[in-house]
Amino acid sequence: MNQEAVEQDVTDRVLASFENTRDPRLKEIMQSLTTHLHAFIRDVRLTEQEWEEAIAFLTDCGHITDDKRQEFVLLSDVLGASMLTIAVSNEAYDDATEATVFGPFYVDEAPEISYGGDISGGMSGQPCWVEGTVRDTAGNPVPGARIDVWEADDDGFYDVQYEGQAAAGRAWMRTDDEGRYGFWGLTPTPYPIPHDGPVGRMLQATGRSPVRAAHLHFMVDAPNLRRLVTHIFVEGDPQLEIGDSVFGVKDSLIKKFEEQNASTPTPDGRTLDRDWTRATFDIVLAPQNA
Ligand code: BEZ
Ligand code: FE
Repeated sequence: MNQEAVEQDVTDRVLASFENTRDPRLKEIMQSLTTHLHAFIRDVRLTEQEWEEAIAFLTDCGHITDDKRQEFVLLSDVLGASMLTIAVSNEAYDDATEATVFGPFYVDEAPEISYGGDISGGMSGQPCWVEGTVRDTAGNPVPGARIDVWEADDDGFYDVQYEGQAAAGRAWMRTDDEGRYGFWGLTPTPYPIPHDGPVGRMLQATGRSPVRAAHLHFMVDAPNLRRLVTHIFVEGDPQLEIGDSVFGVKDSLIKKFEEQNASTPTPDGRTLDRDWTRATFDIVLAPQNA
């Protein structure tokens, strides 16, 4: 057999080994994975030493992963695999709000707040009033939608990245009878994804920055409507030009965070002792099976 035939023979035998997979979707995925993985190995003429290094890299990803640190999510994110899966799974529907990357910092145990509540939990940063509505694609308000929000402080850390820190910079709330919501958060600032592990080493070796554009995470759920996982980004953030390390930015998600003087009365009738910002994010949810 010539070299090409030797290589193709390996691929053919692996493809055939999946022929009897009972679940047709699993069969499709395993055979397609084999085809593309083998094509990649042939394409770059992968050496045995490089394959060993790749396995050592994945092993390191496993070793640094625990219930607080998820290196495989980071890897998926920096390779654009998360954003591509989101693009494939959330096809544009009418004027539904676009989805973006979930990230590794959502946690279940966030406090509930009512309209106008404060999510910061004492974390440092500039106060920011965020308000908007949740509607369906026919324009009807969605009362009682659940909105989860989470964000980093102005040092670029989420609560879960601090040892022993109680929930902060996160909360959930429900929209009112007219589909409205409003809360106090922190003006988002750019921050690096965790880069002290194997993914960080990969970014450094390839001359890439770990920094994410400033953002505030949202997850919105309502009966019979498609779950939305997204962020809003800050218009004018220089990192938007430089690039987001996980490819999460979409133009429709870039919002004005308008600077307000300390002397400007707040929407809930208070005067703050420092400057603050305000942003509006009107959310449109696609139907469940769109
Ligand atoms: C985040 O925005 O929280 C995030 C997203 C992807 C990777 C790391 C962090
Ligand atoms: Fe984030």
